Amino acid sequence: AVAAATQSTLLGFKQVPASTADTFVVPEGYIAEPLISWGDPILQGAPAFDESGMQDSAAQAGQFGDNTDGMSFFPLADDHALIAVNNEYTNYEYLFAHQGKQTLSADEVKKSQAAHGVSIFEIKRNAKGQWQVEPGAKRNRRITAYTPMELTGPAAGHELMKTAADSSGRKPLGTFNNCANGQTPWGTYLTCEENFHGYFGASGALDLPAREKRYGLKEKSSYQWFTQDERFDLSKHPNEPHRFGWIVEIDPMDPTSTPKKRTALGRFKHENAAVTVDNNGHVVVYLGDDERGEHLYKFVSKNTYNPDNQAANRDLLEQGTLYVARFNAEDGALKGQGEWLELTHGKNSLTQENGFADQAEVMIFAREAATQVGATTMDRPEWVAVHPNGKSVCCTLTNNKNRGVEGKNQPVGGPNPRAKNNYGQIVRWWPRGGDHTSTAFDWDLFLIAGNPTVGEGLYKGSSNINADNMFNSPDGIGFDADGRLWIQTDGNYSNEGEFAGMGNNQMLCADPSTGEIRRFATGPIACEITGLTFALDHRTMFVGVQHPGEDLAPSHFPAGGNSKPRSTIMVVRRQDGGIIGA
Ligand code: FEO
Ligand code: CA
Ligand code: CA
Ligand code: CA
Repeated sequence: AVAAATQSTLLGFKQVPASTADTFVVPEGYIAEPLISWGDPILQGAPAFDESGMQDSAAQAGQFGDNTDGMSFFPLADDHALIAVNNEYTNYEYLFAHQGKQTLSADEVKKSQAAHGVSIFEIKRNAKGQWQVEPGAKRNRRITAYTPMELTGPAAGHELMKTAADSSGRKPLGTFNNCANGQTPWGTYLTCEENFHGYFGASGALDLPAREKRYGLKEKSSYQWFTQDERFDLSKHPNEPHRFGWIVEIDPMDPTSTPKKRTALGRFKHENAAVTVDNNGHVVVYLGDDERGEHLYKFVSKNTYNPDNQAANRDLLEQGTLYVARFNAEDGALKGQGEWLELTHGKNSLTQENGFADQAEVMIFAREAATQVGATTMDRPEWVAVHPNGKSVCCTLTNNKNRGVEGKNQPVGGPNPRAKNNYGQIVRWWPRGGDHTSTAFDWDLFLIAGNPTVGEGLYKGSSNINADNMFNSPDGIGFDADGRLWIQTDGNYSNEGEFAGMGNNQMLCADPSTGEIRRFATGPIACEITGLTFALDHRTMFVGVQHPGEDLAPSHFPAGGNSKPRSTIMVVRRQDGGIIGA
């Protein structure tokens, strides 16, 4: 009876079952085709992919990077567009013939660096309605771990940003571990630096202060970059990691433009950047910090958006105020109120006495500042998405095995209601008065993922989770123009024990008003589904299949046969040309 009463009118497709197959499955009446895979040529003169693992850094620097992640669609004409997409990381078991079991040469380190960053390429739609890549097109670009960039905002030029190679503290090289993304109304792409710590190592013993250690910096690095490129050696260049962990703004239309790191948005392990323009004209960017027990942030621009003068909007992300969220609730309640706490030097005890010399230090050590002001520890905030009506916002809290564990200082409660949370949940909030610049909000949990067949209590999941649509570890999310909430998973794909019946990572679609959730797609073996964007008409959706076959799991996606598995962007359409999801 409940199901009938909540039957969604927004969701028009037939759910697909959970899957453990090595394919990408979409509902009846839908078509899914690969657009581009790791190693496909993008720049003029780049060679075709060669699966031997023997291609050099120059080849990789002209090809699509690895581990496709967040992406955005930029229209150029009806049947012509740009895709800007992150290449989050790379899997040495496939990048190199020796599978990473040998010490890397200098060119192998450079090849690894070139497999990271951002890819920008033109696509065109043919007479059959298929979007296809235009290799060598004039706007195509690869941004890598060594592309020259500019630091802007309060931390630019600070002592903590200066290095032996850059005495200005304003000219960093490269971006890497670019997880998810954002898109501004003035036509730029935002790429978000997440697990930057893993690329640094140390040739000597390290003795880092707590505020540095909190970002995970260690002596050892499995990527080995520091062994061939001393920029990544913490013993020699301790300030280099301060130049990463930022939101980077890129003009995708100009392949000669210099990407800008926006330090006013804080330094942490950024997931995505959900941009909205409030009714009062201020640009608000919601930001997750994906680590167990870290926080949820928002940035409010100082200046306001001018829709009639896009050039004047170009540096709106240079100045503004960063806030971090505190969620309040009655004991055991799954909803409550919350407040945004300002991270401005001299306010909220962010003072010299408490270890913050200036605003640059508040931004560089944003995590420590968040703790100082009393932010809520969260179950790994991943993507944030703003509903197209502007009234509500969702954030995936993907999972957190440390929640409620002795000594971890992450108490159970509020939007993080389960100890040893292996399933994840989606928190939703409504800015007070519909004003994204307000410091007050009301929140609930839109869904609690779980397993109703083997779990107990909250581990069964919320009432909109059942044996047919269950999943774990929601990560990528995005609303389409009609308000459907698309949910992608990066979870345990063992299909066993507490994950039995969930199968491979997948994509779901939810109706926010009824709460109904249906499984829309399932991915191949050992992949994560991450990254989504739509063509303007919403009759094509682009979906990322990341690292199929990771850790040498038996995948041959997408080419099949005995081929090497490759991260791939899939293009999804309907046979009847209709709106995706409707
Ligand atoms: Fe790159 Fe938090 O996922
Ligand atoms: Ca993610
Ligand atoms: Ca994840
Ligand atoms: Ca991933």
